Amino acid sequence: MTKKLEGAGLRGQVAGETSLSTVGQIEGLAYRGHKIELLAEKATFEEVAYLLLYDKLPNQEELNNYKALLRSQRDLPDSLKEVLQKIPATAHPMDVMRSGTSMLGNLEPEGNFSNQLDSINRMIATMPSIVTYWYKFSHEGLDIDLVNDEDSMAGHFLHILHGEKPSELHKKVMDVSLILYAEHEFNASTFTARVCASTMSDIHSCVVAAIGSLRGPLHGGANEKAMELIENWTSKEEAKSNIIEMLNNKEKIMGFGHAVYSVRDPRNAVIKEYAKQLSELADTDTLYQVAEEVEKVMADEKKMFANADFFHAPAYFYMGIPTKLFTPIFVMSRVSGWAAHCMEQRANNRIIRPSAEYIGVESSDWVEIADRP
Ligand code: COA
Repeated sequence: MTKKLEGAGLRGQVAGETSLSTVGQIEGLAYRGHKIELLAEKATFEEVAYLLLYDKLPNQEELNNYKALLRSQRDLPDSLKEVLQKIPATAHPMDVMRSGTSMLGNLEPEGNFSNQLDSINRMIATMPSIVTYWYKFSHEGLDIDLVNDEDSMAGHFLHILHGEKPSELHKKVMDVSLILYAEHEFNASTFTARVCASTMSDIHSCVVAAIGSLRGPLHGGANEKAMELIENWTSKEEAKSNIIEMLNNKEKIMGFGHAVYSVRDPRNAVIKEYAKQLSELADTDTLYQVAEEVEKVMADEKKMFANADFFHAPAYFYMGIPTKLFTPIFVMSRVSGWAAHCMEQRANNRIIRPSAEYIGVESSDWVEIADRP
């Protein structure tokens, strides 16, 4: 006895209040009232994280101090490095991030909620270190130095990943990517974090729970899946015929569609432009051309638009980022939004506990265990 639930997936339902971002109102996105396009053009990720966590744009001195604080917190405790060394290369990096964050919470528990910002900033500072330290150790046998003179998360991540100073363009693109991914209202992982926070749990548990939600291909995992799709094709023609075939088979094309936006995802135009710029400087722009063709076919055939994840795939590819690290970059950024939501939830808390529409049998007879079939 099953019946279709109206409003499945809580679509379109208001599940709480936030002053952190507006999603989808006139198809736009704004963090604390600041349009995403302007933030991507003018701000840095650290300014955006500060805006989300401290509810104001920092002045120059505050930004310098904030960057210095994050920089001073990037190194990992030895026992966390030892845990990361034990995780095999076959592990999924999102599982590594989940375990790394959990271990950090064991070593440096939040304790009293009055320490929340200290724990949050420590997590923001260590996320790139956790995933890159594990990646270099497990894949290349390197015990990398996590300390360098990069003053941004974007520069720090690219530097420790590639073992050299990144170009200004690569730093800018990574910074823009981190800004675009930082916050997105009541998406699945943020809602997970808020549910966890509403039980008055600690901040590390909230972030670990959120990482688990982000991991899925219908959410953050889509950038990785988009890459796995488009790297198969060597021409626009091949891409077009394969996509049409997939659509005929009722397959979902990762990196398209959105639960809230109905006309466009405002983040797409921003990252697409940078993916294009990077492709023009690369030896071959085939991947970008293929991605553009897929976008066109999806618009023509399904009237569907690329979401934020789709053009992140070629953008990251052109910066030499291994596909398996795509979704962890999302974590590095979104931890700022998750944490800001947890703080907001804690400040005005009531445990989140919705109800379910019962669709089971009305009444069941008790059968003794020996008599059960
Ligand atoms: N490719 C092809 N068809 C798609 C599609 C996609 N990416 N996304 C949705 N559709 C189709 C569905 O098959 C469904 O068709 P139907 O009505 O014939 O069954 C219809 O569009 C509605 O899709 P639905 O999954 O119910 O939408 P949703 O609002 O529940 O889901 C997403 C939103 C984002 C989960 C969904 O679009 C998706 O899975 N996209 C791919 C994963 C992705 O890119 N995620 C990142 C989001 S930022």
